[in-house]
Amino acid sequence: GFSWTLADHPKLPKGKIVAMVVLDGWGEASPNQYNCIHVADTPTMDYLKQGAPEKWRLIRAHGTAVGLPTEDDMGNSEVGHNALGAGRIYAQGAKLVDLALASGKIYEGEGFKYIKECFDNGTLHLIGLLSDGGVHSRLDQLLLLLKGARDNGAKRIRVHILTDGRDVLDGTSVGFVETLENELEKLREKGVDAQIASGGGRMYVTMDRYENDWEVVKRGWDAQVLGEAPHKFMTAVEAIKRLREDPKANDQYLPPFVIVNEDGQAVGPIVDGDAVVTFNFRADRMVMIAKALEYEDFDKFDRVRFPKIRYAGMLQYDGELKLPSHFLVSPPEIERTSGEYLVHNGVRTFACSETVKFGHVTFFWNGNRSGYFNPDMEKYVEIPSDSGITFNVRPKMKAIEIAEKARDAILSRKFHQVRVNLPNGDMVGHTGDIEATIVACKVADDAVKMILDAIEQVGGIYVVTADHGNAEDMVKRDKSGKPQLDKKGTIQILTSHTLEPVPIAIGGPGLAPGVRFRNDVPNGGLANVAATVMNLHGFEAPSDYEPTLIEVIDN
Ligand code: 3PG
Ligand code: CO
Repeated sequence: GFSWTLADHPKLPKGKIVAMVVLDGWGEASPNQYNCIHVADTPTMDYLKQGAPEKWRLIRAHGTAVGLPTEDDMGNSEVGHNALGAGRIYAQGAKLVDLALASGKIYEGEGFKYIKECFDNGTLHLIGLLSDGGVHSRLDQLLLLLKGARDNGAKRIRVHILTDGRDVLDGTSVGFVETLENELEKLREKGVDAQIASGGGRMYVTMDRYENDWEVVKRGWDAQVLGEAPHKFMTAVEAIKRLREDPKANDQYLPPFVIVNEDGQAVGPIVDGDAVVTFNFRADRMVMIAKALEYEDFDKFDRVRFPKIRYAGMLQYDGELKLPSHFLVSPPEIERTSGEYLVHNGVRTFACSETVKFGHVTFFWNGNRSGYFNPDMEKYVEIPSDSGITFNVRPKMKAIEIAEKARDAILSRKFHQVRVNLPNGDMVGHTGDIEATIVACKVADDAVKMILDAIEQVGGIYVVTADHGNAEDMVKRDKSGKPQLDKKGTIQILTSHTLEPVPIAIGGPGLAPGVRFRNDVPNGGLANVAATVMNLHGFEAPSDYEPTLIEVIDN
């Protein structure tokens, strides 16, 4: 039968302190002026790179290596940390939704049947990110879902859009809205009363995560449910064009707006008897709105009205909370993660990041489960993020505070694994501010140094890697790799992640002398890291895990 007990590694000892450092948004790309990691002063990471090929190498962090549909899909933190923690590659939300839509199974599932009950007398509301980034949602999936809803009897549909500019170029929101409007027009020709009802920028409206700022969710609630917002327009295209006229405006942070009819009435508030679907497949930025839509008892903000609706997520977003309880597509069944194995095998774990990335090294790492496996064996520390600012204003973020917590945890010798996420390269990279991203990269490097120094003191081991690329390329490139110019001849800033591989480095005084990277896993990716780390804790990985990246040579 199944057992949690891991076999002893034949050559590596137990009990070493292992620092597991994840630099968020830190890929490897050719050195040039748009590579902020290259431009920044990063002596620690440069030093680690000198260990190649035995102690430093690159691993894949995008596409099928992390369970995404195609090799054109950039990496992201959800699939990246899932792979790092689970040690296996799962078909991820993007792919699972594609399959469910293509086969039509989505319409036969419990979740769709549940919301369908409202189609005769109520409105179907679809809330989510309007983007083809493929990180949280995809526009083509939304369009298929709209068509499927009509075929299954939806008579009145309202779409509540969130504009992107973070996983896609800033300014692309207008084109996405035009595409959506075309589809809605087709639905109207077929007799469905279908319209966009509200909108707002994803970073300012609805899509907060890890309870960083409930005001973000409240702004969305007011627009989507109550039909109230500071800005009112007759169409979404007009809304976005007008709101973007403000020179400081961008897609990520557009203020909330509602669409109104000639009488100034909101066209699509959510009321008793309606159905609601949040159409993002990715979990982190849907958990908060899911709570607001589903929980009877709720005190995070005043909902004013709590309509009696049937709500389903595209996926179930939190496997521990079973939230939401209804969903259209079953999430990947990520089980027996490395974290769960390690607590069963006596490995005490400390995990830390600041709020905006805290769930990455806990929730995502543990297969989209909130909470501890065993509170006696684990300690998770969240450092409050600065809220209400964009991180280019404070590019240092809480990196040093995170490193200090890690240092203290290492020096306390109470934990065998000390795991952190350093957010700077990613969070500042997403702002598109190159100067600030260079500062961010330097600070992340300083933080790594602090952790490596602590590992040195306790005779431990370090593993330094990243979840996907971002800061190493800040410009949109054409097929030949040259910066792409817009109509005015200026470069287009790339706020999104990339397709680049990420580095992984191992070392520290506790690393047994013969340990080195194998050269027979050339296509190794993030999912190979879990087995590697289990080995460094003195265990063999379970047989169904992706192979370890290391071998031990007898000297
Ligand atoms: C976000 O949610 O901030 C971006 O869409 C993806 O960034 P992350 O995958 O690094 O969190
Ligand atoms: Co990111």
